[in-house]
Amino acid sequence: MSAQPQTGVKTSGRWQPAVTTDPMLHKHGALGHPVSRIDGPLKVQGKARFAAEFPYENISYAALAYSSIARGRITSLDLVAAESAPGVILVMTYHNAPRMKAPSLMMSSPTAAGSSDLPVMQNDEIHWNGQPIALVLAETQEQADYAASLVKVAYASLPAVLSFEEAKKTPRQLETLLGQPPLLEIGDAETALANAAVKVDVTYRTPRHNHNAIELHAATVAWNGDELHLHDASQLLDLTAGQLGDIFGLEPDKVRVTSPYVGGGFGGKCLWDHQILAIAASKMAGRPVRIMLSREGVFRIVGGRTVTEQRVALGASSDGKLEALIHTGTAAMTPHNSCPEQFTFPARHLYAAKTFKLEQDVADMDMLVNTFMRAPGESVGTFALECALDELAEQLKLDPIELRRRIEPEKDPTTGKPFSSRFLIEAYENGAERFGWQNRSETPRQKREGEWLIGMGCATATYPYHRFPGGAARIRLTVEGHVTVSTAVHDMGMGTATAQAQHIAARLGVPFENVTFEYGDSSLPRGVIAGGSTQTASIGGAVIAATEVFVEELVKLAGNDSPLAGLSLADVEPRDGGLGHRDNADRFESYQSILSRAGRDELVCEADAPAPAEMEVFSMHSYGAQFCEVRVSAITGEIRVSRFLGSYDAGQILNSKTAISQFKGGIVMGIGLALTEETNFDERTGRVVNASLAEYHVPVQMDVPAIDIIYTNKPDPQAPMGARGIGEIGITGVGAAVANAVYNATGIRIRDLPITLDKVMVAPEA
Ligand code: MOS
Repeated sequence: MSAQPQTGVKTSGRWQPAVTTDPMLHKHGALGHPVSRIDGPLKVQGKARFAAEFPYENISYAALAYSSIARGRITSLDLVAAESAPGVILVMTYHNAPRMKAPSLMMSSPTAAGSSDLPVMQNDEIHWNGQPIALVLAETQEQADYAASLVKVAYASLPAVLSFEEAKKTPRQLETLLGQPPLLEIGDAETALANAAVKVDVTYRTPRHNHNAIELHAATVAWNGDELHLHDASQLLDLTAGQLGDIFGLEPDKVRVTSPYVGGGFGGKCLWDHQILAIAASKMAGRPVRIMLSREGVFRIVGGRTVTEQRVALGASSDGKLEALIHTGTAAMTPHNSCPEQFTFPARHLYAAKTFKLEQDVADMDMLVNTFMRAPGESVGTFALECALDELAEQLKLDPIELRRRIEPEKDPTTGKPFSSRFLIEAYENGAERFGWQNRSETPRQKREGEWLIGMGCATATYPYHRFPGGAARIRLTVEGHVTVSTAVHDMGMGTATAQAQHIAARLGVPFENVTFEYGDSSLPRGVIAGGSTQTASIGGAVIAATEVFVEELVKLAGNDSPLAGLSLADVEPRDGGLGHRDNADRFESYQSILSRAGRDELVCEADAPAPAEMEVFSMHSYGAQFCEVRVSAITGEIRVSRFLGSYDAGQILNSKTAISQFKGGIVMGIGLALTEETNFDERTGRVVNASLAEYHVPVQMDVPAIDIIYTNKPDPQAPMGARGIGEIGITGVGAAVANAVYNATGIRIRDLPITLDKVMVAPEA
């Protein structure tokens, strides 16, 4: 098998996929092959150690007490009962907590990883209902939990903004929408809408969602003198290490954050108060500390998706071309975070229209900061946009897929950039055929089996391609032929290590079994975050750069006594466990031979990924078509997703098993978004009142049908390895596909999520 080193990137900006040919798929470990996760056996045997599972001599256990008002000051703290409870080592409050610098916000400074820039336990101020007011450290978890319940506190409350309806009356304009202008206007969209032959102008609402990864947020803290080791559950190791250095005034080489296994991330496994507080308490007590939030604790101090209200107005000509595309609205935020829920992003690139008006602002509220949660922006933005397109298709008497065909753009409709690779219509066509879309009745409420009304819906899925600069990779080759590639990245269960081992095997031409991918430790070469579906491409960029150095070093080592003698870098390629001439099968020398002739035990090379120039030139996105069939009880309003198919166009798929698992996981989360998930925020008190998995329903086995996944597998010529991100796209479009199916089944348009049975029970009996 032949793997090509990356050679063109510096001159043409083009990446060459390592290996993309399907005939290779039968070979274990080849790119695309459904290799089972290499961390799987460790996990099922209980041998994978998660953040809260590291044993230390003399370890102590932390528990938090949380504020019960939304805004104000602490006027008194009575700690007598807590401090004298059995096993208590210390009670930390703002009175005795060490002085710590406030975190800086994620994406606002090079070292930032903070989800909030509020100071942590430094003064008497309360900013949200649920803010930690005390940390109890005890000999056992049970003792800590009990003592935390004995903390007595009195407050002076201040007026708080707790109603979204009130808050959005005085919206705050954003300075930037994650680097994009918050207002994008092309032409006069309102006038074009007013003059359009066919129009839809509707408002959609989406609620708050909470992070509910299976692994609770947890950390184990161990100080060794002035050196800090944090065992974390993290999707941003290096940013966390940098931020902790800032907060505690430590030199970068004194902070090590490790996170080899994470039980689900989704945007929530970042730096929150609990790690900072546990580190401070460990310093005070002089003992290692374990902290694991309760499920309620996650609801209190780990932010989630925020509430939105979105207007989508579409004006079309009678032949189904868009005259106006308007998507505007408001998301709730606090002044202390940086996640604006960019729901207008999909409308910026998905469809051709003559005029655009895309604008969003925020309503500031006194609440826990909102944050990134799987496809922030796109997941709720596609709900509004893709439902509105379904409404427009109905008015035009067009099949919804035919409408997408008529508004398919040739280039990015708002930036004018060429698409790097886009096969959305093909994804629709493949999906429609396999799902049996032709059996859908164009008129709603036509199919019924007993009490069950049956309908189908579809919607576009989309998520941007992004590659973060700044990552590095180190390749170490031993004379025995084993390759270890190291970089401080993350595998939260999505298969990073497995897919990268496949990529490295293909690129260096070594057997999959000879590759170790080392990650999860901030002391490794600098890594990128696992977020924004960017990590795979970002690692790929660094590995490709390191491969170039690796080949260069090997050619030097090979020297003049090699079959490779006299060949230039452009002539050679890694293959079959060595280097060979691209066009001459006979000119080849194995890695083992090159190293042993040079008297070397190993070769170590490191390189930084090149700047992500591809994104400046091209409009790069993953696409998909989501197909849903629902059954809705005409009697009780019960809604069951009976079939689901996701058809994706996400570039080269590196591992079909882990990729399908990512797509399915996104769809499952999307079914929760569509039907059941809602954080109930009490607007009188600012309290989250359903802070448990009993009252916040994430989809379980009985809520999820067998899910069918297909993909185009067309390598993106601009992406390293040809692969775009796949972690988040699965959730996008699902809310709309379900809502459109519910409409097709019942004739009722539900424009506010979740689609609970009370909303369809008002159905007129057919
Ligand atoms: Mo994702 S919301 O970038 O983990």
